[in-house]
Amino acid sequence: MLTKKVEEFCNRQIEREGYSSNLYLAMASWAESKGMAGIGAWLYAQAEEERMHMLKFIKYVTERGGNAVVPAFKQPPVKYKGVKEMFKEVLKHEQFITGSINEVLAVAIIEKDYATTNWIQWFVNEQVEEENAVQIIIDKLELAGEAGLYFLDRDIMALRSTAPTE
Ligand code: FEO
Repeated sequence: MLTKKVEEFCNRQIEREGYSSNLYLAMASWAESKGMAGIGAWLYAQAEEERMHMLKFIKYVTERGGNAVVPAFKQPPVKYKGVKEMFKEVLKHEQFITGSINEVLAVAIIEKDYATTNWIQWFVNEQVEEENAVQIIIDKLELAGEAGLYFLDRDIMALRSTAPTE
């Protein structure tokens, strides 16, 4: 059985993973509308992964006898300044999510909930992969510059197969 505090933090994380999914969907749609199908595909797939993260939390809270809350989500931005700026926002957002996962872990430790402490390690590792995957794209964008964007978009389409799963 989850303590109220751990349940509260897990529910907060459900909202944050769900918002991440919607944020990446909005970015995917924007990228696709600007002719960047590869970047769009990467972000659509990322949006699916974030939805899976939200589901993992929902199922875990329920399995541990808590009440999972499926919240309303605020609307993500519709327009982005540019591709590099957008991926910098993705990185900033993932760093925020890493901090948020760490807070769930910290609360689980304080509450002596060792099952959650153990369960959430998957997310701790996932965040290392996700931040790294986004940093790789930012590095490529820096290298390619505006002129190389067409080829980079093709590359990123191929990168999808090596991106973190789940
Ligand atoms: Fe589920 Fe990208 O954090």
